[in-house]
Amino acid sequence: MEAKHYRARVAHFRSGFASKAEAFEYIDDAVLSLENGRVQQLVPASEAFKQGLNPSTVIDKQGALIFPGLIDAHVHAPQLNIIGSYGEQLLEWLNTYTFPAESAFASVEYALEKNRQFLHSLLRHGTTTAVVFSTSHRHACAQLFELALEKKMRIIAGKVLMNRNAPAALNDHETGIADTRKLIEQYHQRGRLGYAVTPRFAGTSTPEQLQRAGQLVDDYPGLWVHTHLSENKAEIDWTLGLFPEASDYLDCYERYGLHTAKSIFAHCIHLTDSERQRIADMGSTVAFCPSSNLFLGSGLLNLKQLQAMGIHYAPGSDVGAGTSLSMFRTLADAYKVTQLQQHSYSSLEALYDVTLGAATSLRLDQYIGNFEKGKEADFIVLDARSHRCLSTRVSHCRTIQEELFAYITMADDRLVQETHTMGECVYTQQGNRH
Ligand code: GUN
Ligand code: ZN
Repeated sequence: MEAKHYRARVAHFRSGFASKAEAFEYIDDAVLSLENGRVQQLVPASEAFKQGLNPSTVIDKQGALIFPGLIDAHVHAPQLNIIGSYGEQLLEWLNTYTFPAESAFASVEYALEKNRQFLHSLLRHGTTTAVVFSTSHRHACAQLFELALEKKMRIIAGKVLMNRNAPAALNDHETGIADTRKLIEQYHQRGRLGYAVTPRFAGTSTPEQLQRAGQLVDDYPGLWVHTHLSENKAEIDWTLGLFPEASDYLDCYERYGLHTAKSIFAHCIHLTDSERQRIADMGSTVAFCPSSNLFLGSGLLNLKQLQAMGIHYAPGSDVGAGTSLSMFRTLADAYKVTQLQQHSYSSLEALYDVTLGAATSLRLDQYIGNFEKGKEADFIVLDARSHRCLSTRVSHCRTIQEELFAYITMADDRLVQETHTMGECVYTQQGNRH
């Protein structure tokens, strides 16, 4: 593959700095050079031309801002149809809206269409890496992986394990573990894919299913574990009633070997001090899902406390309880959640957290997260001109930090002009290319 050179404003976070603000690098006239789908170099345009770069070979994106592809640490592929479903909190919301929507994925054709739409929607919002819940159907998870391979996206996903307190259409009592094993063998570490063993949450699996899921984590190196933890108070009471032997909610996973350094726990709003400390000690990751937590009335995550304890975390849209696939919308809600707790989440912190920060938490930072030489060239081209209110606001910003904060506060998919994975353009707003 030939080299490509993009000229634009470029922002990203460099590795190895003590603070997120220090890690920030912004070049207002840069050339980002790629070769074989990887970053070759990022330098000021003047330097690139001094090195002998032929200006006629440059792809001109001047005026736009190039930024690393965004990372969504927790999202549900089958839930686009139920975004914004009215009036319920978690357990009723699952029974009323979610389980019927996921049951429809029993149809192979329907699931294929919906999985295609889901991945395209991620790209439209600038997300190139995501940690994804599929449904409990093996075919739906396999489709997701196959489609992600075509788009060269970094997708960590798993079929949902659920064999109790589930409607018959989603109950995988007979097949759950064997299907998971087949999917691991077929897709884990294939291309850019990774497998996450995905019990929905403790209350929808029997202890035996959790124990067998933990055995899989032992059997195959490098697997992630992806589940929900301590989202809603009624959920916690119900779960502890189902696991009388467990000392707390986290112990329902821990005792079956499902708490590892590569576990991703969505929500974690109502943790006990002991649970929080065990997560810090293990180095596992909390997926912070502010849009979902506000929408379902689940509560406000204390981000400041997680940060002070050095807990790994990464923002997640949690669509369809979250109301947008946009990581900018997610960060806008994160800002409001911290404001309600007398703490402010800065633009540089937030954008670090959806790029290099998330990559680090998910143990993917050797591959993605910034524009260091050799990293996989996942990037987005942002241009406020197709969002009138945002471009008005941006024209009054005095610094790049102010501009980025305006993006977080106001942007959605209209800001994303192009999305590239491994150096290839896989979405343009103009062509709305699939
Ligand atoms: N807990 C168990 N399943 C789900 C789900 O689909 N969404 C959310 N937000 N929480 C869950
Ligand atoms: Zn979720």
